Amino acid sequence: MREVGVSLFGFGNVGRAVARVLIEKEKLFRERYGVSLKVVSVADTTGVVWLPEGIDLREALLIKETFGKLSSWTNDYEVYNFTPEEAVKEVDADIVIDVTNDKNAHEWHLTALREGKAVVTSNKPPLAFHYAELMSEAEKRNVPYLFEATVMAGTPVIGLLRENLLGDTVERIEAVLNATTTFILSRMEMGLDFEEALKKAQSLGIAERDPSEDILGIDAGYKATILHCVAFEPKTFDEARVKGIAEVTAGGVGRARKKGRTIRLVATVERGSITVEPREIPVDSPLAVESHENAAVIWTDLLGELVIKGAGAGLKETASGVVSDIVKAALRTA
Ligand SMILES: NC(=O)c1ccc[n+]([C@@H]2O[C@H](COP(=O)([O-])OP(=O)(O)OC[C@H]3O[C@@H](n4cnc5c(N)ncnc54)[C@H](OP(=O)(O)O)[C@@H]3O)[C@@H](O)[C@H]2O)c1
Repeated sequence: MREVGVSLFGFGNVGRAVARVLIEKEKLFRERYGVSLKVVSVADTTGVVWLPEGIDLREALLIKETFGKLSSWTNDYEVYNFTPEEAVKEVDADIVIDVTNDKNAHEWHLTALREGKAVVTSNKPPLAFHYAELMSEAEKRNVPYLFEATVMAGTPVIGLLRENLLGDTVERIEAVLNATTTFILSRMEMGLDFEEALKKAQSLGIAERDPSEDILGIDAGYKATILHCVAFEPKTFDEARVKGIAEVTAGGVGRARKKGRTIRLVATVERGSITVEPREIPVDSPLAVESHENAAVIWTDLLGELVIKGAGAGLKETASGVVSDIVKAALRTA
């Protein structure tokens, strides 16, 4: 049995969902892969809990869910005031997992890679702004840098582009990558206006209290930029042309519907070009997704048209992508 040390940064919705899967599937990972994953540190913004012998994740969940912060955990564990940078250096681990929303996390991703530690992340800005630097560091050190959950949650579009189609040339990708805007647009089709649909999304916890990243197309823009980096070549979010759904009106949605079409926030990715904008698409298009589904249509020279569709949000669904990457990284650590 190979023991692999894991350092978990971020204990919010996704971080806790990942912890639950690691608890539930511990036996499966031992039996199927011969790997024992030992979480040696867990961090939120209030502190880093670190125990080289391994942390009891059930207890960590209980503390976070009862008190809201890991720093309340003072009984059996040491809580350190490390910055992520310091923790990455100090804590002995094989894999660093970033499920935070730290926009500057690329700095400590680079530190982890330089230390020879694999990085698994669901955090988009590091990739959307620093892909070239991160990949070059990972390649130089021959260390895994994995980010399946950054695009389409656990639906494996990144794996598809990175590990398959290796003889194909991708020509174009069209994709619906943001579930919040899909929810709002489909509610507008049912007769709500934009504000009412947004309020509904917020009341159901689908949209954030500050929904601007979704509404303005920034979240979809990050994801489209990451797809461009993987399918073509490195680019940054600043080079993407992004328009959100704030100007879509109930009238526009209704007129599209009468023509047998639906409006969705569509990302179009071609070599050298990244565009995100609301577009009318036929109701029978694979991009006419509903609910929390995402879809991508990928055209390649050899395979032609390929459609990948599945959950693009949700906690279990995002944990699926993160945990799959953790196992991949664990299998690659010596
Ligand atoms: N939710 C989804 O469906 C989904 C899907 C795909 C990707 N993602 C991405 O996954 C990440 C996590 O999402 P989430 O929904 O779990 O967000 P969340 O609930 O807001 O959790 C973020 C967590 O990160 C912690 N954190 C922030 N900065 C940190 C730092 N510098 N050091 C240590 N911990 C830090 C926060 O600490 P506190 O608890 O102390 O605030 C919190 O525990 C985000 O980047 C998000 O974009 C989410």
